[in-house]
Amino acid sequence: MAGRTKVGMLNNDSPVHYAACFKVFLTALETTKEKSRQFFESKVPDSLLCEPGAELRVLGIGSGSREADSFMLKKLLQRHSSVYNRVVEPSEELIEEYKALAREDASLGAVNFDWRQQTAEEYFQTKDDTKFHLIHASHVLYYVEDPDATLRNMWEQLEDGGYML
Ligand SMILES: C[S@@+](CC[C@H](N)C(=O)[O-])C[C@H]1O[C@@H](n2cnc3c(N)ncnc32)[C@H](O)[C@@H]1O
Repeated sequence: MAGRTKVGMLNNDSPVHYAACFKVFLTALETTKEKSRQFFESKVPDSLLCEPGAELRVLGIGSGSREADSFMLKKLLQRHSSVYNRVVEPSEELIEEYKALAREDASLGAVNFDWRQQTAEEYFQTKDDTKFHLIHASHVLYYVEDPDATLRNMWEQLEDGGYML
C-alpha cells in the first residue's frame, strides 16, 4: 500500500517525471519483447523437413506464456503454408489466454491448434503415434518430475529429421 501511495504521489506531484519514467518503462518492455522475438526466431530453422503436401506438425510442451510459441509459429509460417500445433499446458488460466491470442491474432490463422490441458507427465502417458517435425519445451524442463524421461518421450515423438528445442 505504501508503495502504491508513493507511485501515486509521483503521478500527482510530478506528472512530468512520471511521464518520463513511464516512457522509459514502456521502451524497456518493447526492447525485451523484441529481444525475445529475435531469440526464438533464431532458434527455429528456416525450413523444417516435411513430407510433400503434409502439414507441418509442432508439439509445444509447457507453452504457457504463448509469446514464445507465437514467435516460433510466425517464423514457420514464412515457409510453410499451414501448421498443426499441439499445445500441452497444465495451467487453465494460461491455456485460456493462449486460446484468446489464437482467436484474435489473424497472422496465426493458418495454425490448427490442438489444445491439451495436461502436464507433460499426463500427456506422455497417453499412447499416440503422431510424430512431430518440431518439438519444443522452452523453460519447462526444470518443472517436470523427470527431465530425462521427458526428453526421451519428446525424442520418441520426433519425426525423422525433426528438430527438438
Ligand atoms: C517459464 S514458463 C515457459 C513458457 C514458454 N514455454 C516460454 O518459453 O515462454 C513454464 C511453463 O511450463 C508449464 N509447466 C509447469 N509444469 C509443467 C509440467 N509438469 N508439464 C508441462 N508444462 C508444465 C507452466 O504452466 C508454464 O506455462
